Amino acid sequence: MAGLFSASTIEQIRAGSDIVDVIGSYLPLKRAGANFVALCPFHREKTPSFSVNPHKQIFYCFGCHKGGDVFAFVKEHESIEFPEAVRRLAERAKIPLEYEQGAGAQQARHLKETLLEIHEQIAQRWQHALANEAAGEIARNYLASRGVAAEAIQVFRLGCAPDLWDDTVNWARSKSHDLVLVEKAGLILRKEGSDHYYDRFRGRLMFPICDEQGRVIGFSGRVLSGDEKTAKYVNSPETPIFTKSKVFFGLHKTKRAILDAGYAIVCEGQLDLIASFMAGVQNIVAPQGTALTADHARILRRYVEEVVLCFDSDEAGQNAAVRSLDHLLASGLAVRVAVVPAPHDPDSFIKASGGAAFRQLIEKAQGFFDYYLARLCAAHPVTTDKGRLAVLRSMAEAVNKTGNLVLIDTYAQKTALRLAVSPDSVRQEFKRQGRVRGATPPPLEAPSAPQKEVAPPARDESGLLQLLFQHEDLVEWAAGHLDVQWLEHPLVRKIVLDRLHAFQGNGWQGLPPFLDALTDPQARNLVTRAVFLNYMEGAGGPQPDPGTRDHLRGRAVPKPFEDLKGLVTRLRNKHLTTEINQLAAHMVSLDAGSPGQIETYRKIEALKALKRKPVEDPQR
Ligand code: CTP
Ligand code: MN
Repeated sequence: MAGLFSASTIEQIRAGSDIVDVIGSYLPLKRAGANFVALCPFHREKTPSFSVNPHKQIFYCFGCHKGGDVFAFVKEHESIEFPEAVRRLAERAKIPLEYEQGAGAQQARHLKETLLEIHEQIAQRWQHALANEAAGEIARNYLASRGVAAEAIQVFRLGCAPDLWDDTVNWARSKSHDLVLVEKAGLILRKEGSDHYYDRFRGRLMFPICDEQGRVIGFSGRVLSGDEKTAKYVNSPETPIFTKSKVFFGLHKTKRAILDAGYAIVCEGQLDLIASFMAGVQNIVAPQGTALTADHARILRRYVEEVVLCFDSDEAGQNAAVRSLDHLLASGLAVRVAVVPAPHDPDSFIKASGGAAFRQLIEKAQGFFDYYLARLCAAHPVTTDKGRLAVLRSMAEAVNKTGNLVLIDTYAQKTALRLAVSPDSVRQEFKRQGRVRGATPPPLEAPSAPQKEVAPPARDESGLLQLLFQHEDLVEWAAGHLDVQWLEHPLVRKIVLDRLHAFQGNGWQGLPPFLDALTDPQARNLVTRAVFLNYMEGAGGPQPDPGTRDHLRGRAVPKPFEDLKGLVTRLRNKHLTTEINQLAAHMVSLDAGSPGQIETYRKIEALKALKRKPVEDPQR
């Protein structure tokens, strides 16, 4: 088939298909020095190892080692054959191909284009009705009463569908649209057994739903009357261009802010998103209702590594937060949960308390498991055996899903603290439950364990890697002041340990041998990334690190030693805090005033004093 195209045609298409433009239309690319980087679309990863070289017009993934030119990318990404990739790029670059394509594919594409065109036109029609027509009066008053600003109406292209059975039908006729196609678009319905059509959206406030490029692909319509009998929201059905479970409302307007923030807020509804957006908190998406699907999670994962769930304060909303967990964890996203005080949803909270308060709520959102533990302890009386067991069981089930031993251990401790029982018993119980469910995670560093992608390291641990691999002169100080026990991420711990050993044993032969010696490819990726970031900084000023909030970037004058000291202090103190909390939990289980309790108290005080010491001092 490839022989169908002459070499010159291929070159012409290649010349018209800049690899950065093409790949950039599939995934968010971020400039990184001379290159662009992104999360690799071809394998699951948590730190970007996919890079695009605009100069050489090639891409390469350091993680899965896939690479090639622009055709190879499209071929791979779309799972299509070479001729089809050529055809698509030709179409995109508007370069005519002299061969005839299959009639079926052409028809399908034509149908989608027509449906998109119909959506765009009806969106304009409904916008006009809302803005200017008498039929829009109720909707205008409604929006005013809910405090939706004129600017929001424009930005999100809100409209209204007049309260008639044949408004859209007549509109379609006046535009000479084929009613069969308008039905396919989901805008009208056919009365069974007749050729009589009627409108799907009647007397509703219309929210256009757009794809990531901002093309209208569906609608959600909110009821305007107080009529209890009709559903509050009516949505477009599944159509060739719309699948509700794969689309976020608002993402086309918020993706920039999401990339910039490094995390995405997930709220339930359109009006929540609009209120947040208008209040200046723009890194937000809405799955439109509470069903967050695996597809949704994957979409988010292309942009960020962390999400903050902010669902309604009611039972349904909070349950939804818990239900979303599986998909989010499976896609490797870190999850925090922000809870708006009852009886609010984000929209009403923002109206009542303002954008700054909302932002604060988001920023101080707890990690998912802390949230979940608190919720369980509120739902079950932890002073009874029954209550304690219920909490234990639910926590074990949730935390075991991560398969991450560090997380499991951390939350075993925290659960123990809340239930006032010994951490060891909770650890045992978590393990037992994991076994019962057949989901015991492999032990740390088990050599034969199947490759499971580990969560990305926390900010400070990732920063530590960058510093150690960017500034060789810092390794000596680190070897004298850093205790690898303070590191939570198993791979980071191993890498740092190896690096410090290499220093102490004079075994440092430079980076390539060090990388070769790392048997775990994920460890290699972590180090490569740490080095790559260094390279980027050298190659042209501060470079954003895709999808993560990296505190080492964006600094005019780098102060690596200051950074390292700060980092190490924070790591040490975090570790000390955990120890202190453990001891505190232990202390309450001891007899008041007993020697054991006094001893424990002294230990706690000693650790607290240690926390206050600057890190330069020799440790313990
Ligand atoms: N939803 C839906 N179909 C329904 C009800 C809700 O698709 N029958 C979706 C809508 O996207 C809605 C979201 O679920 O925005 C959240 O529902 P709800 O909290 O009931 O609506 P709100 O966003 O709070 O809308 P409003 O403030 O107008 O009541
Ligand atoms: Mn709501």
